[in-house]
Amino acid sequence: MPNIVVVGTQWGDEGKGKIVDLLTSQAQVVVRYQGGNNAGHTLVVGGEKFIFHLIPSGILHPGVQCLIGNGVVLDPQVLLMEVDRLKERGLSVGPENLRISERTQVIMPYHQRIDVAREEKQGAGKIGTTGRGIGPCYEDKVARRGIRMADLIAPDVLQAKLADILPEKNFYLEKFLGAQPLNGEEILAAYLPMAARLKPWVANVSVLLAQAAQEGKNILFEGAQGTHLDIDHGTYPYVTSSNPVAGAACTGAGVGPKQLHLVLGIVKAYTTRVGAGPFPTECLDSIGDHLVERGVEFGSTTGRRRRCGWLDAVVLKDAARLNGLTGLAITKLDVLTSVDPVKICVAYDLDGERRQTIPPTIQELERCRPVYEELPGWQQDLRGVRRFQDLPAATRDYLQRLEKLAGVPIQIVSVGPDREETIVVQNPLG
Ligand code: IMP
Repeated sequence: MPNIVVVGTQWGDEGKGKIVDLLTSQAQVVVRYQGGNNAGHTLVVGGEKFIFHLIPSGILHPGVQCLIGNGVVLDPQVLLMEVDRLKERGLSVGPENLRISERTQVIMPYHQRIDVAREEKQGAGKIGTTGRGIGPCYEDKVARRGIRMADLIAPDVLQAKLADILPEKNFYLEKFLGAQPLNGEEILAAYLPMAARLKPWVANVSVLLAQAAQEGKNILFEGAQGTHLDIDHGTYPYVTSSNPVAGAACTGAGVGPKQLHLVLGIVKAYTTRVGAGPFPTECLDSIGDHLVERGVEFGSTTGRRRRCGWLDAVVLKDAARLNGLTGLAITKLDVLTSVDPVKICVAYDLDGERRQTIPPTIQELERCRPVYEELPGWQQDLRGVRRFQDLPAATRDYLQRLEKLAGVPIQIVSVGPDREETIVVQNPLG
């Protein structure tokens, strides 16, 4: 049975959660491989809304094993809150359906405090992070002074590591950032009970994945954020601190590249971005307002209004190459109803030269002017449509143009937030 990686092709918030949820009916294992609670998936099932930041969206499916890979940075407080909220709603969450890698890095209170204080100090030059401590936690991972789940659940190790690291963090917080220091005893008092609760969930995720593959189970690798927020391939430095691209599923989950059979790229029918950074097709006019309002474009993690603009095929083609996409899922197509004409950016004009790829520097990207192609819009409400051939001709033309520009077949089209509001053109999992 094929395994599939689900990745965002833009700057995150493409609607991955709904597609992961949809495909999970055909997968037995869902694993997250990067990011942390900077992500947020909103799912609507039977009119009921669920928001997840850490737990893989597959948790809504009974019998599915959800895994959090070593590439994730995990805030234990957030995870336990999500678990408790799901339990309150009658869903079963426990070690039988959710496991965390023993190598997953733990977000500590100083990570979050540094993230927020650093952004404040930056003022206008800030990245616009989610303030969840994501970047500082990945910094510690690379600096080899991170606390991992295996350390968290060993009280002596946690205490020793904290005693070692906290003076440096407090020095940085107080002396450089002008922020309040943290108290080690208080951190331990909060973290030890959480560690005790989480202990039964900690496992060797790589081994669990190998077993699942051997048993012929379908594995779904769930990416967070999007290709252009990738620390290596995104619009650096306005990026997140991990690798959302599909290849990172290997390192972030602990599998070899032969385990990644299919790669589904999620494409919002227009573009959104939260936080700072260049955005060539941004619409600062009534089209932008329409997209925000009709698309309810407010972050599910921070509540921030998302910046909105036209679909950018340069961004999409880049994502197709970087991820080796085998299929596309187009989301929020219904939001474009009554926008007429619709535009697609097919190239950039950089100082009078046509560019088909994203330049590496922010300075160049800021000078890029989008070259648009205009297509006729449509007026019909799409939310009731369930077959591709029943879409208005102009909508089909828009989709077919996207498909041609990306060079990747469209397999799924989402026409509304509910699980049911979906057109499966060609089931990626057969
Ligand atoms: P961080 O990941 O909190 O460090 O934020 C770095 C950048 O990535 C900021 O521009 C955030 O708005 C953006 N970002 C992080 N996670 C998401 C996400 O899940 N969706 C969209 N943008 C995100």
